[in-house]
Amino acid sequence: MRNGYAAVGLSPSPVKPDRNLALELVRVTEAAALAAAREVGRGDKEGADRAAVDAMRTVLDSVSMDGVVVIGEGEKDEAPMLFNGEQIGDGTPPQVDVAVDPLEGTRLTALGMPNAVAVIALSERGTMFDPGPCVYMEKIAGGPEIADLLDLDRPLSETLGLIAERKATGIRDVMVVMLDRERHHDAMAQVREAGARVRLITDGDVAGALLAVSQDTPVDLLWGIGGTPEGVISAAAIKCIGGQLLGRLYPRDEDERRASLDAGYDLERVLTCDDLVAGDDAFFSATGVTDGDVLQGVRYQGDRGASTESLVMRSRSGTVRRVSARHDRTKMRSLGITIAG
Ligand code: FBP
Repeated sequence: MRNGYAAVGLSPSPVKPDRNLALELVRVTEAAALAAAREVGRGDKEGADRAAVDAMRTVLDSVSMDGVVVIGEGEKDEAPMLFNGEQIGDGTPPQVDVAVDPLEGTRLTALGMPNAVAVIALSERGTMFDPGPCVYMEKIAGGPEIADLLDLDRPLSETLGLIAERKATGIRDVMVVMLDRERHHDAMAQVREAGARVRLITDGDVAGALLAVSQDTPVDLLWGIGGTPEGVISAAAIKCIGGQLLGRLYPRDEDERRASLDAGYDLERVLTCDDLVAGDDAFFSATGVTDGDVLQGVRYQGDRGASTESLVMRSRSGTVRRVSARHDRTKMRSLGITIAG
């Protein structure tokens, strides 16, 4: 059966990652964010994505790892770089699976809207869920306090009531973050009828998931149908930060349903973070492109270069770092980025 790490047909690595690779990965997401942010508000989604991919690729080669892209920019014939199955890193151990989204929020970037991030996640070889033909996934995510209350089958209004009870607040205080899509209209109505509140986002449910699981944010729950790759990437982050995400593959049409079943996927199965990213050593790095709820975006500072903010985490140690960095113009030129000053 094609599912989870069995789906990619790989056996677990004999060499376990033993150093904090996230600290090397932060250079990768910083590079992608620095390049993509040059394209903020320029109305060119593809151009912004290309800039992020090119910059990410340049730095990835220098990371000490033997990586295989499980979640990338698509199949080899449609993506010249960072395609699914591509080998990345300098080829030295550890052997790892890699999920990249050089620009999560291409439209957000093109329109100069908040919450675009560059992101990468790693886990031991053979442990990352390969979404196969399924583009979408139903998702529900929340912090550690409500992790056991998450359920994709219970009516959303009941779950909101349980969250209010657990958090000892009124249901009016509970906030659900959701992609603003027509397919979510019924759920939005349910949340409102239950007396809770909705925060709509136009894109970027990785940032939405981070917001939902983090402490001291106004959001309690992420709910909705979004990208499967983003679900796996969010799961890697949640394994580090705490909380839970449940996902279930959601074929868009009969062809996708058939292709998924033929490939051995179980469409009824509810996947936890441990199913999406198995093992106990996940690494995650995200750098803000535009300002957002979780991360500040890139600031260009003329001849002083530019600054970035990143979230860098490892599940085994539970280390969560917020990294602010200044990048000088020489470094940026090496990434092909020229700024005035
Ligand atoms: P891109 O950055 O690839 O454009 O994806 C953004 C995003 O909003 C994801 O965060 C989300 O999971 C997915 O697209 C939702 O897909 P759709 O726009 O088709 O509803």
